[in-house]
Amino acid sequence: MTGAGEGNKGKTAVAEAAGVVARRLGKLEPRIAIVLGSGLAGVADAVGQAVRIPYKEIPGFPEPGAPGHKGELVGGTLEHVPVLVQSGRFHLYEGHAPEVAALPTRVFASLGVTTLVVTNAAGGIRHSFRPPMLMLIADHINLMFRNPLVGRVVEGDERFPDMSDPYDSGLRALAREVAQAERIPLEEGVYAALLGPSFETPAEIRMLERIGADAVGMSTVPEVIAARARGIRCLGFSSVTNVAAGLSAQKLSHLEVLEAGRQVAGQLERLIRGVLTRL
Ligand code: HPA
Repeated sequence: MTGAGEGNKGKTAVAEAAGVVARRLGKLEPRIAIVLGSGLAGVADAVGQAVRIPYKEIPGFPEPGAPGHKGELVGGTLEHVPVLVQSGRFHLYEGHAPEVAALPTRVFASLGVTTLVVTNAAGGIRHSFRPPMLMLIADHINLMFRNPLVGRVVEGDERFPDMSDPYDSGLRALAREVAQAERIPLEEGVYAALLGPSFETPAEIRMLERIGADAVGMSTVPEVIAARARGIRCLGFSSVTNVAAGLSAQKLSHLEVLEAGRQVAGQLERLIRGVLTRL
């Protein structure tokens, strides 16, 4: 097995990447990192005094392969709050090991980040959902059957992290407050993560509905697990870009996912700005 999670080698990979990022950030010491999902890359353009660090300059960071994902970390400020934005994530469906998907998260932890805002595109399962719209992630179901903590414990990680409040209840309350103040519709629900890259079948969606999922996607869970193993609190938003398979006559396409994501990106940016000002 290879990868950033492998014992001491893992620590070296995290430390090496963190060293490069820290040097580029200079005096900027973000405590908040934001991961941008499909169609949501525009949020990175809102960062002021931006320091752009392409993934090819960061040891251990592969080139992102998913369309609609850039490949850079952007340090700077949003609402005068220092932030580190991850524009482009590593998906398991690209063939990346879970440790690679979680590498940026561990790097953030090494840099002193204590709050992780994760975003993604998702299919809507709850029947009242009318995409494109935003969902506040209340909880998740890991159906990737992979976990970035498997293997020797990477220094700094907890072996058996508690997952009873994976998406911090205080941060969620704050997000609901912002949504209300900004008049942004925001439903709260459970995100189910599957490996992908094929979209789900109608039978799979019926199963997901029965086990309590409100939205389905192919990301986020490895990062949130890695974050919880470091005590980082998480806040998650899904841009529900389409009705899940079988719930409408429409066929699913990644291009539509990207387009629908762009339609709610402005709302997402306002939500994130509102949360940052209230932290
Ligand atoms: N399924 C899985 N992932 C997705 C979907 C979907 O319907 N829409 C956007 N990402």
